[in-house]
Amino acid sequence: FMKRRKNWSRYPPGPVSLPFVGTMPFVNYNNPHLSFEKFRKKFGNIFSLQNCWTNVVVLNGYKTVKEALVNKSEDFADRPYLPIYEHLGYGHKSEGVIIARYGRAWKELRKFSLTTLRNFGMGKKSLEERVSEEAGFLCSAISSEGDRPFNPRILVNNAICNVICNITYGERFDYGDETFKKLLTLFENSLHEEVGFLPQLLNVVPILLRIPGLPQKIFRCQKEYINFVEKLVYMHKKTWNPAYTRDFTDAFLKEMAKGKEAEENGFNKSNLTLVTSDLLVAGSETTSTTLRWALLFMLLYPEIQSKVHKEIDKVIGRNRPPTMADQVNMPYTNAVIHEVQRCGDIVPMGVPHMTYRDTELQGFFIPKGTTIITNLTSVLKDETVWKKPKEFYPEHFLNENGQFVRPEAFLPFSAGRRACLGEQLAKMELFIFFTTLMQKFTFVIPEGQPRPREDSYFAFTNSPHPYQLRAVPR
Ligand code: HEM
Repeated sequence: FMKRRKNWSRYPPGPVSLPFVGTMPFVNYNNPHLSFEKFRKKFGNIFSLQNCWTNVVVLNGYKTVKEALVNKSEDFADRPYLPIYEHLGYGHKSEGVIIARYGRAWKELRKFSLTTLRNFGMGKKSLEERVSEEAGFLCSAISSEGDRPFNPRILVNNAICNVICNITYGERFDYGDETFKKLLTLFENSLHEEVGFLPQLLNVVPILLRIPGLPQKIFRCQKEYINFVEKLVYMHKKTWNPAYTRDFTDAFLKEMAKGKEAEENGFNKSNLTLVTSDLLVAGSETTSTTLRWALLFMLLYPEIQSKVHKEIDKVIGRNRPPTMADQVNMPYTNAVIHEVQRCGDIVPMGVPHMTYRDTELQGFFIPKGTTIITNLTSVLKDETVWKKPKEFYPEHFLNENGQFVRPEAFLPFSAGRRACLGEQLAKMELFIFFTTLMQKFTFVIPEGQPRPREDSYFAFTNSPHPYQLRAVPR
């Protein structure tokens, strides 16, 4: 293989590859962005790594990432095979959506998921109403904390997870519900199980997964989580009436009932669990972490918080619940939310892609089947685009007249064919939750407590370190 790699004369440069392990010893898998920054300085915006025998190319900076994901969208639309998920039920005919190979089943499922999410609320409560209702529940729960300092993590996770549970299973849980608490803990621990050297190694040397009991031991929470989702789906099926579509699961069951062709297109029993689980995983942690970043930045920058308060008072007032229609009249608040996403940078390395065919990028040759890492941090903090890349500066999204503008390098949801399919929902949640909370409360650092840390910790997502706040009613 070493020979073959040398034969590709225009293959991107990278650190020297050692026998068997490749470049793995040179990457800090607990903080990959630090290693990537080092390599980028040495080798440029497109560099190569080698995870044992697997070729990996890392793309950096807005121009490079855009050229790959937007201009050569199909060339980069595949996903690498990730054997660590096999024990959860992911396989040839049931790949979910997120890690599905680029092909017919993925296309059908993506189209179905987008349409079903979009159509929600026809006849019943609209998606916006559901989000707004949940934001109201969150405000009540925060009010019950009274004067006490508290860590908002659990309440915010509860609320955001409820939105997606409501869409997929037609259910929301009370914040104190023990089952719900268990689900959220499993979620968080599942993400931790994916980080570090070992999962990377198991993906490229899958034979190690045959060691009896190993996957069950390392990925215990992920397995428990999938079992949990299976139970939710099972209970749901028992009460299904084909004449009436209550939620995403019902819509999926309806597709499954269409028979063999539907099954070929991915609408089968095990995929029902995996697709709904994908939505739950992708839709909860990401949005709730962003909202926790938003509250943290409000604590750290009270003068920005006060400008948001002023805009809310002017456009919405103190009583009427915010709606999406208010967004166009609230450029400052909108800019703050975008800046939270840019600085929070919550999916720093994106989700791995794979080249679908041999391709070229900025003169480099990248063969079919190469794993591609899109370094989204390098886009959201690209020094050639952002005026103050390392600072929280909402003016990045405002022009000289105070109107909202969205620079093209704002890519927290990635871009191209595999771009986040929950982008519209996430944006709605962020706007409605944030403005509802800010309408009702002023968030302050509790007396006597140190200023919370502004840096993040990495566990697939970038999260804020735990912090406490006090919510003062307005
Ligand atoms: C994929 C970000 C919310 C569902 C992704 C990707 C990113 C991302 C970076 C990878 C795209 C790529 O491979 O190039 C975010 C952020 C969110 C968010 C920052 C919130 C602030 C959501 C929500 C849902 C969702 C609410 C569900 C309703 C998905 C799915 C994929 C995905 C299913 C895989 C798409 C595919 O492979 O075709 N997201 N996401 N996300 N996201 Fe999100």
